[in-house]
Amino acid sequence: MNFFASAIIFFLFFLNGNLSFAQKTNNGAIYSGVSWFDDRGEIVRAHGANILKDNGRYYLFGEAHSDTSNAFAGFNCYSSQDLYTWKFESVALPVQLSSKLGANRVGERVKVMRCPETGEYIMFLHADTLTYKDQFVDYATSKNITGPYTFQGALLFNGNPIHKWDMGTFQDTDGLGYVLTHGGDIYKLSDDYKSVVEAVNKNMTSGFEAPTLFRKDSIYYFIGSHLSSWERNDNYYFTATSLKGPWISRGLVAPENKLTWDCQSTFVLPIQGSKETTYLFMGDRWSYPKQASAATYVWQPLSVDGFSISMPNYQDAWSIDTVTGVVSTAKAGDKTIENTDKKFVTFSGKWKHVKYNSFSVYSSYEKDASCSVKFKGTRIGFYALSGSEGGYASVVLRNSLGKTVASCLVDMYCKYSFPSLKFISPILPKDNYNLVVSVTGERGNWTDKKKIIYGSTGYFIPIGNFIIKN
Ligand code: DGJ
Repeated sequence: MNFFASAIIFFLFFLNGNLSFAQKTNNGAIYSGVSWFDDRGEIVRAHGANILKDNGRYYLFGEAHSDTSNAFAGFNCYSSQDLYTWKFESVALPVQLSSKLGANRVGERVKVMRCPETGEYIMFLHADTLTYKDQFVDYATSKNITGPYTFQGALLFNGNPIHKWDMGTFQDTDGLGYVLTHGGDIYKLSDDYKSVVEAVNKNMTSGFEAPTLFRKDSIYYFIGSHLSSWERNDNYYFTATSLKGPWISRGLVAPENKLTWDCQSTFVLPIQGSKETTYLFMGDRWSYPKQASAATYVWQPLSVDGFSISMPNYQDAWSIDTVTGVVSTAKAGDKTIENTDKKFVTFSGKWKHVKYNSFSVYSSYEKDASCSVKFKGTRIGFYALSGSEGGYASVVLRNSLGKTVASCLVDMYCKYSFPSLKFISPILPKDNYNLVVSVTGERGNWTDKKKIIYGSTGYFIPIGNFIIKN
């Protein structure tokens, strides 16, 4: 073999073995309830998030989290052109050496706005102790959208900090900025966004965590959740024609008992296109304690009609044209591989084949029992039946060289039975792949500060069918 042939073979080996992540940058749709992989092939970690559009690009800010504790792990920043594929930009605000955001403190619900008066980017957040007993709304500033942000401490109103936990932000069409807190309080910011000048709305309701506000024409919509720790609940909303109110309670965002399609609100992004404005509802499907590896996002188009908003159906995948604002349905794969198809799918350990309505699943709770799918193509995904006894599955996808090209944990817990897409790989170079889904014998459960127990009561991994993209 001559030198050039060896060099080409080495290059191809390098490409395949190390994955060209440039090829992973088109995810082709917005997926809910699955891990997303960024341009580095790492799980996108951006919870309690918001999105800011700047110079034609979308910037996503969110909590990084870890799998070991609830301590602040930094706020990440990603960017995207299409809202499908995310480039990791920076740890916009890392764990501080000391202060309210030092080690073993809580840092949550990061929201960034650009102050029109100064051009500065102002990041708002909730800082606290690990037991949530020292609540502050704080802020940080940066000249660049991706940071680094400088932590400035408490946001002051008449010289006093705001002792509230869940918070959000809203920028009105006139450029005025507002901070929202649980309970539905709305605070108007000063011209430089660095202090509060007026309490615009007070004591609207009790609870109302994860406050999220947006406007369509002359109507304001204010969404929040009940208080149930990391467990999801039926989020609800109010409307008004002035931020001062009166705020009128309008009911639930999604059908009752669907727990907002198993997520908690964090932000609504209006995507103003040349043909339509689409309202992107962004929610978190928490997964305590494995928030870094298994918490996912539920992003759905919100239908807004007069004083009413709704998400009547859950969509595993959908597309948005960010130029026109037009939404369409999306197809995750080209063909289905049934979980009974022995040509592709093999199970090891104890599995039981059961049917839930017409949904066929192979289910196991035996630690290390596994399911393997061998296929040729560019992408694989699978459906599963989440339920109250669902555990964590480990998912590892390897290429023909045996190199891991995607891995994550999948949380099969949901308070109700919910058949849905639970994993989708990035789009990869065409190759022979092996997907292995194993039972970890672990589950997401936790207690809150009142020692109430939440989460899964079992370790079940109920796997449905697979989808492949050629
Ligand atoms: C629900 C809140 O919305 C989250 O931000 C977080 O504070 C959890 N509670 C903690 O239990």
